Amino acid sequence: ALRPQAERLLMGARVLLTAGPTREPLDPVRYLGNRSSGRMGYALASALVNLGAQVVLVTGPTVSPLPRVSKVIQVETALEMHRAVMNEVGECAIFVATAAVADYRPMEIATHKIKKDAAELTLHLIRNPDILADVAALKAPPFTVGFAAETENLEQHARAKLTAKKLNMIAANQVGGERGGFEHDENALTVFWRDGQCGLPMMSKTQLARELADLIAEHYRGHHA
Ligand code: CTP
Ligand code: CA
Repeated sequence: ALRPQAERLLMGARVLLTAGPTREPLDPVRYLGNRSSGRMGYALASALVNLGAQVVLVTGPTVSPLPRVSKVIQVETALEMHRAVMNEVGECAIFVATAAVADYRPMEIATHKIKKDAAELTLHLIRNPDILADVAALKAPPFTVGFAAETENLEQHARAKLTAKKLNMIAANQVGGERGGFEHDENALTVFWRDGQCGLPMMSKTQLARELADLIAEHYRGHHA
């Protein structure tokens, strides 16, 4: 439900948000992908809408129900996501990167289905552009929020990304454990910014999204005050 007017901290603000996985084609029938369901990103998009934001969602392919936002742009590859984001970002006050973007794509896409001729097959991969870092490096960047999924040294890795990519905030979650993260209903996050941090304990992705949206709104407003 929409918050009471006094709590709609992002009234009228345009937010660009990436979500879901990307798919990097190998041949006409195969791709490299990942386990992102898009649900954390979609829940965050909804929570931002409830704060009054006009959300533009750029999403990779998922089977999760799409959130009600101002505009949805559906993409497959990291390069398509990069292009869509760069087209939209000029209009936006806040950028949130929740997408699980493939770090690499196959160097060549075979025109025909790859046949199992040989006993071994080596794939050549090439680095994809970093969408989040490219947005934060713009001349007049929006308030920029990243995500980080880490299996170890959460704070160290998250803070390194915050600094290296020149982000305003980063939300980090520990993955690879029993609960939380990809393919789970619940998740926990630690949010870092330059001179502080905030732990959001294990809870439903919906509730977690609400609390994260509130944090983003508070810091965005503080930043522009
Ligand atoms: N990201 C992005 N474009 C990419 C790769 C990542 O926009 N090509 C964004 C993600 O959406 C996320 C953040 O960068 O918000 C961090 O992603 P993550 O995979 O944790 O970090 P990387 O910078 O890719 O580094 P690594 O995978 O080596 O840990
Ligand atoms: Ca990565």
